[in-house]
Amino acid sequence: MADDPAPGVGAGTDGLAPGGAAAQGREAPGSRLIVALDTTEVEVAARWAGAVSPDCGMLKVGLEFFLAHGAAGLRAVARAGRPLFLDLKLHDIPNTVAGAVRAVLPLGPAMLTVHAAGGPAMVGAARRAVEGGGAGRPALLAVTVLTSLDAATLHATGVSGGPRQQVLRLARLAMAAGADGLVCSAHEVAVLRDALGSGPVLVVPGIRPAGVAAGDQARTTTPAQAMAAGADWIVVGRPITGAADPGQAARDIAAEARRQGG
Ligand code: C5P
Repeated sequence: MADDPAPGVGAGTDGLAPGGAAAQGREAPGSRLIVALDTTEVEVAARWAGAVSPDCGMLKVGLEFFLAHGAAGLRAVARAGRPLFLDLKLHDIPNTVAGAVRAVLPLGPAMLTVHAAGGPAMVGAARRAVEGGGAGRPALLAVTVLTSLDAATLHATGVSGGPRQQVLRLARLAMAAGADGLVCSAHEVAVLRDALGSGPVLVVPGIRPAGVAAGDQARTTTPAQAMAAGADWIVVGRPITGAADPGQAARDIAAEARRQGG
């Protein structure tokens, strides 16, 4: 069980000098598990949130849910008392991304995502916009290369290097432009730590407990492996939300992550 007092929505980050979110992400006591609430049903999301909240450090809401229910949906999830990760993977011209960030700041997310491929001006604009949230501002995370893009697909979009090379290029770009951290696969954690040090908050999806079907995630990692590799947070969706008892599934995964220092 997470033994820290549940931080309120928007209380997920604190005292953020550059890199401050990174430090905060690692110092907060309790579970390193983020549960992805991927559904279009408010009642379902709220039920999952209530079931997993004692054992997760954060709840993740993505495009599917947010486009269907917006602020009202987010408030319904927030009642579970966990900080929210608003995973919208924003990607547009800098002015529009900054406006989108400002639009969601009043909802008090603890983390927000943008695509690093939007370029340094866009990531920088997002950073300046999150700073409008003051001391409790969200941590700004950058997505590098979607795991659904393989080398051939990247090549078709005009990217000549392989996924590894592109991940590293975009990670450097995003961190230099003001991101607090990165969303990455567990297989990328070591190389990102080597290249960028301990500063970035590394948030790792694609997690499957040993013995659970991989679903559409091509390369998966167990919670223990991801934490041992140096992840700050692991993101788990369907292995928890699709379980007969989501609360128990979250408890088991959080315990496994914690055994590895999570
Ligand atoms: O259900 P599952 O555990 O596969 O959910 C993973 C979550 O992490 C989803 O919400 C998905 O959008 C997100 N994800 C991501 N980046 C990836 C892979 C998954 O943000 N590369």
